[in-house]
Amino acid sequence: MSGIQMDAVSVRLGDTDVLHDVTCSLTERTIAVVGENGSGKSTLARLAGGLAAATSGTVRVLGLDPARDAAGLRRRVAVVFSNPDAQIIMPTVAEDVAFSLRSEKLPREEKKRRTQEALHRFGLSDIADRSAHDLSGGQKQLLALCGAFVREPDLVIADEPTAYLDARNARRVTDHLLEDGSHQLLLVTHDLALAQRCEQAVFVKDGTIAAVGKPAEIVAAYEEHLAC
Ligand SMILES: Nc1ncnc2c1ncn2[C@@H]1O[C@H](COP(=O)(O)OP(=O)(O)OP(=O)(O)O)[C@@H](O)[C@H]1O
Ligand SMILES: [Mg+2]
Repeated sequence: MSGIQMDAVSVRLGDTDVLHDVTCSLTERTIAVVGENGSGKSTLARLAGGLAAATSGTVRVLGLDPARDAAGLRRRVAVVFSNPDAQIIMPTVAEDVAFSLRSEKLPREEKKRRTQEALHRFGLSDIADRSAHDLSGGQKQLLALCGAFVREPDLVIADEPTAYLDARNARRVTDHLLEDGSHQLLLVTHDLALAQRCEQAVFVKDGTIAAVGKPAEIVAAYEEHLAC
């Protein structure tokens, strides 16, 4: 089964029910997640990425149970956050991208080829040998995305991935996220025009999924809620 399925899921953190009664089947290729600050979008994204555990209910991501097959999920799912500092591990840009391929059983030359191709795709070839930690916020975010994509994941979970990017790089990244047809995408965003470029949308409200449907309808429902 592809996509993300949740049945009666809750997530309790400390003494707060951050998510409750979440039931959904998200099978379109590109899925936007919209909702107010603090509504539970990032928690939903973390849950789908195996980075937060369900307190009750069942979760299946690409047919896998994140609680039982974390390794399988890590191989097939890439998660990108809006804070790029937390995602850099190796000293240089090229090393950091190559590090994402460490657990792939690929010949060295193939790893090199894929690293160079990904650096080129994200406009990072010219700074491949620079210190990764000294990059600007936007460059770090491009690096994090590059590291996610070099693994050719089946599902990309991106939580406000363009927050640090200038308009050209934001477009480059969103085009790549949305139009490269080989992966499924769960995209958390406050950019409602971007949400409408997806094929399906989820409206998260007060810790649960208020609606799932066509992006135009979901965005209209969310905007109506915001206007209240
Ligand atoms: N570790 C935690 N312990 C307790 N409460 C938490 C924890 N993480 C998140 N929360 C709470 O859960 C709620 C949802 O947080 P979440 O980060 O999922 O919201 P969000 O929809 O992504 O918001 P934003 O649009 O601001 O990024 C918030 O009230 C937050 O304070
Ligand atoms: Mg968030």
